[in-house]
Amino acid sequence: MDAEALKTEALTAIRDASGLEELDEARVRYRGRKSELKQALREVRDRDTGMALNAVREEIEEAFSARSSLLERAITDRRLTEEVVDVTLPGEAVPRGHLHLITQIRREVEDVFIGLGYEVVDGDEVEDTWHLFDALNMPPGHVTRSPLHTLFLNGDIVLRTETSPSQIRVMEAREPPVYIVSLGRVYRRDTPDSTHVPIFHQVEGLAVDRGVTLADLKGTLLHLMRALFGEDRRVRFGTDFFPFTEPSLQASVSCFICEGTGCSTCKHTGWIEMGGSGLVDPTVLTNVGYDPEQVSGFAFGLGLERIALLRHGLPDLRQLWQNDLRFLRQF
Ligand code: DAH
Repeated sequence: MDAEALKTEALTAIRDASGLEELDEARVRYRGRKSELKQALREVRDRDTGMALNAVREEIEEAFSARSSLLERAITDRRLTEEVVDVTLPGEAVPRGHLHLITQIRREVEDVFIGLGYEVVDGDEVEDTWHLFDALNMPPGHVTRSPLHTLFLNGDIVLRTETSPSQIRVMEAREPPVYIVSLGRVYRRDTPDSTHVPIFHQVEGLAVDRGVTLADLKGTLLHLMRALFGEDRRVRFGTDFFPFTEPSLQASVSCFICEGTGCSTCKHTGWIEMGGSGLVDPTVLTNVGYDPEQVSGFAFGLGLERIALLRHGLPDLRQLWQNDLRFLRQF
């Protein structure tokens, strides 16, 4: 065997190997178990040949490891340039949502009443006719009990048309004093138009204690209206009728747009109607087992959509529930 020729051939093959795989093939061929060199080394009989062949083997060995680290470095270098990440580039923005306008108003109203020491209680959207009608002093012939106004689910099970049954639920469950607000969804069989949606939201308020008067109701609503519409607001009452209050009052707030000089929002009256209220009817107190000789109370109910409409001058309430982000993002 010509050791020099073999060395030259091997070193050429090593130098020419353009990748790790090719280098591996050369490794098998030139110094594998069945390689010519291994064969020759096995058959060595004299010292000189042995030393010469070993020198060749070492040289080939070195060439292999030099080439292999070179090839490995080339791979790493290529990956470093190809897979480079520019950490200074702006990232992909994560779209961030926010609370729906009505939820924002709901929380704002809750905060106002929590600040007054009230408790926020949940009511049920599915009610029975006792809590929605009878206990609230609406007799069987009352007009809202018609299926034209109220969505009946099944017999005496209904979708609540107002948050007022929360009053009954709370008073049935505990003794006075009671200071609660209850906010949530209500359902009416209305055809949607710019000022009506069949599913909307109300806040119900109830205070029952010894010696509660209309002055307490007025002060409470004044505080709420100032928190919602500005510190300069005033509140006034007009007469009204609700079966569950006596007297019943329509609460109005002084117009925050024109300050009373007259505009279309207040229909040139200087006052904006906000909702119903009154002193809890003694019959209602009796219905829940309270003694109207011992305690008295006030109650009120306002629409949350109406607050949004007034504040933002919304042209069409239906837009609140159409999931059009161009609209919702503004609030
Ligand atoms: N539930 C009435 C409605 O939906 C609003 C209301 C009026 C609530 C007077 C009350 C109240 O608590 O005392 O129109």
